[in-house]
Amino acid sequence: MKTYVITGTTSGIGKSLAEEYSKHNIVFAGYRNERLKLEGENIIPFYIDYSKPETIQQAIEFINSKTKKIDTIFNVAGCVVAGALELIDMSELRRQFDVNVFGALELTRGLPVNKVINISSMSSFGIYPFIAPYCASKRALDILFNLYSLESGIKVISLKLGSIATPIWSKSIQENNTVLENSKGYEAECKYLVKNALKNEVKGIPVNKIITKIIKIEKLSSPKPSYTIGFDAKVTEIFSHLPQGFINFVIENKLKRMRK
Ligand SMILES: NC(=O)c1ccc[n+]([C@@H]2O[C@H](COP(=O)([O-])OP(=O)(O)OC[C@H]3O[C@@H](n4cnc5c(N)ncnc54)[C@H](OP(=O)(O)O)[C@@H]3O)[C@@H](O)[C@H]2O)c1
Repeated sequence: MKTYVITGTTSGIGKSLAEEYSKHNIVFAGYRNERLKLEGENIIPFYIDYSKPETIQQAIEFINSKTKKIDTIFNVAGCVVAGALELIDMSELRRQFDVNVFGALELTRGLPVNKVINISSMSSFGIYPFIAPYCASKRALDILFNLYSLESGIKVISLKLGSIATPIWSKSIQENNTVLENSKGYEAECKYLVKNALKNEVKGIPVNKIITKIIKIEKLSSPKPSYTIGFDAKVTEIFSHLPQGFINFVIENKLKRMRK
């Protein structure tokens, strides 16, 4: 039996990972808000809310009191701060980084971890206007953890996922409702963002397909530091390697078409 820590296990990718791994392993499963709906004798729930820093240290103490070794931590918990950068409250920008970046780093370095798998995103390639905080947070996550890996010798794998059919899309509309509804000067772009999010929640890659891939990667003895998963993610990665001036030209033209 191996020991895993998985955050963000109340829904989507984290929940499915916890369900799979707990069949034959011990899983410390992070939740916030609602009580965890996962059950099973191999599941040890722990409370963590990355927007409440004290809960991170409490989670570290709790897990360390129960185990001396963690085979893999999956940093899955995440949220999306969306809207026009000009209109997003600075406290929301900070929350984006607290949840998607700093929380994951603080939890990971507080635990006796052998391997880290971070659920990053194609957004880390940085080409999506109106979800700029999310793009920047995923890029920051990748940079911090890659350098952490080089410094510490702990294996870190970044999974840059394309669109997956999970509740994150509708949650992001709800959470950013105020700024999206009051997006003076950016109404057309925000309307498109909402429409696209609702589409992705249905048409994204099914979670079970992604879980199978993640489990395969986790088993590799010599994994790469980064995997880009999904056709949309692969296209985004290639596009992001083109000259910045050309990338901006293409995006500006898309935005112009949206505004018409
Ligand atoms: N779905 C996609 O298309 C996609 C693509 C690329 C990357 N990702 C990444 O995949 C990860 C999992 O997302 P998902 O798609 O499975 O969405 P999800 O179902 O919304 O899962 C997100 C998880 O993170 C938790 N979470 C949110 N804010 C938190 C906080 N402040 N503290 C602790 N936990 C918090 C959520 O808890 P609550 O249930 O309490 O909200 C939930 O358990 C995220 O990091 C996301 O950025 C998703």
